[in-house]
Amino acid sequence: MSDKLIIFDTTLRDGEQSPGASMTRDEKMRIARQLERLRVDVIEAGFAASSNGDFEAVKAIADAIRESSICSLARANDRDISRAADALKGAAMGRIHLFLATSDLHMEKKLRMTREQVFEQAKLATRFARNLMGDIEFSPEDGYRSDPDFLCRVLEAVIAEGATTINIPDTVGYAIPELYGEFLLNLRQRIPNADKAVWSVHCHNDLGMAVANSLAGVKIGGARQVECTINGLGERAGNCSLEEVVMAVRTRRDYFKLDMGVDISQIVPASRMVSQTTGFLVQPNKAVVGANAFAHASGIHQDGVLKARDTYEIMRAEDVGWSTNRIVLGKLSGRNAFKQRLQELGIQMESESEINAAFARFKDLADRKSDIFDEDIIALVSDESVTPETEHFRLLSLAQHSEMGERPHAKVSFTVGAVEHRAESDGNGPVDASLKAIESMVKSGAEMMLYSVNAITSGSTESQGEVTVRLQLGGRVVNGVGADPDIVVASAKAYLAALNKLHSKADRVAAQG
Ligand code: KIV
Ligand code: ZN
Repeated sequence: MSDKLIIFDTTLRDGEQSPGASMTRDEKMRIARQLERLRVDVIEAGFAASSNGDFEAVKAIADAIRESSICSLARANDRDISRAADALKGAAMGRIHLFLATSDLHMEKKLRMTREQVFEQAKLATRFARNLMGDIEFSPEDGYRSDPDFLCRVLEAVIAEGATTINIPDTVGYAIPELYGEFLLNLRQRIPNADKAVWSVHCHNDLGMAVANSLAGVKIGGARQVECTINGLGERAGNCSLEEVVMAVRTRRDYFKLDMGVDISQIVPASRMVSQTTGFLVQPNKAVVGANAFAHASGIHQDGVLKARDTYEIMRAEDVGWSTNRIVLGKLSGRNAFKQRLQELGIQMESESEINAAFARFKDLADRKSDIFDEDIIALVSDESVTPETEHFRLLSLAQHSEMGERPHAKVSFTVGAVEHRAESDGNGPVDASLKAIESMVKSGAEMMLYSVNAITSGSTESQGEVTVRLQLGGRVVNGVGADPDIVVASAKAYLAALNKLHSKADRVAAQG
């Protein structure tokens, strides 16, 4: 006997809460389309009431995606719930995800509410939401640190009000696998109407056990939905990683005896897209999606794998989409081939003029780089998705001189709004000189928290360099990503991309805290 495990992806909501990972509407849409190709059951597209931008993103995704259910987070109050319902109007399948803290610590210190008040609000909010939508998920925030007796009371009441999924968050990543599994089982056994809802796990990774805890919640606790993110993206140490949990359940089907709808060949493309979009690199030894996940360096391992793959491999790299890393286009490729590859990658462009602009950039890149890979196209289209509203700063040209023994110097020209500026500076290196030149003109005052360079494809120096710059200003943290065969140019693009994000002053309400 087997049953189904629902995969609920929250990359676009909980993942996006990671400092610096905020995404534009177009970036979210592109990732949502990839999640649909991955065939996740539920896409949590955002938190509609948190900002106008997030409302628009949830709405656009709900209007466009047909194969996955689209979910919006909402606090347990009428305004948030109505906002979520409005954003989800066009969805083929929609879900509202309510949350309200139930641990004594959160109720007393954060909400300043009594248990009775929280109990009443949970009930009323669920009732209100259920009148607007048939699919309602309820999360007692900090559920794992809540008093089980109180939790049973609240959950029984919200199920009676029509909640269809009950999710138990380990909000602060405090759980231990066996204990978390038993916690869930205990709730399900004690709550009389527990069988009227699907039970779900939502684990944070502060102690590195989000995947293990989620799997225990499934195996011991009987959960049939896992909430997870691509690459484990998320606040602090992140969330349960989708690729790991899915591949664990699939590879050890003998033990879990569960089916999933996920198309695992889309896992690596999804991982790349999320990493390229957010600038959060995947560590090389990360399970399933890390560059070394299937690389065998030791002679004994290589010999074994050549004789019989399963001596050292429990999964096949090509099954999770590694084989998609191939040369796809070159200098001689025409507009049709480019357009077709965009379609195969699921990248939809709104108009012919957008395709033309992207194709012009592609030609420019192909002149400078002989082989163009899927990752190059994704990076190029990420650049293309900036609009006049989001692109306040734009790089026009960059010249720099560096010679051993001399102090490097850079001259940069860029636009600020409609006005063209030129600036120059010395620096410790050409990248430092270029960014100092930009800063000397912009005077953002932002503090740089991270600078990293990565080869987009393979380990070769022919690859484009992908640079991530993380800036902090007035409590806001943003990541900018830039790609170019010249890493100094990529660095300037990344710096300006981060400044653009700081410039777009979208205020957001965080789901936690
Ligand atoms: O971690 C958490 O508690 C959450 C809730 C909003 C579900 O993300
Ligand atoms: Zn969370």
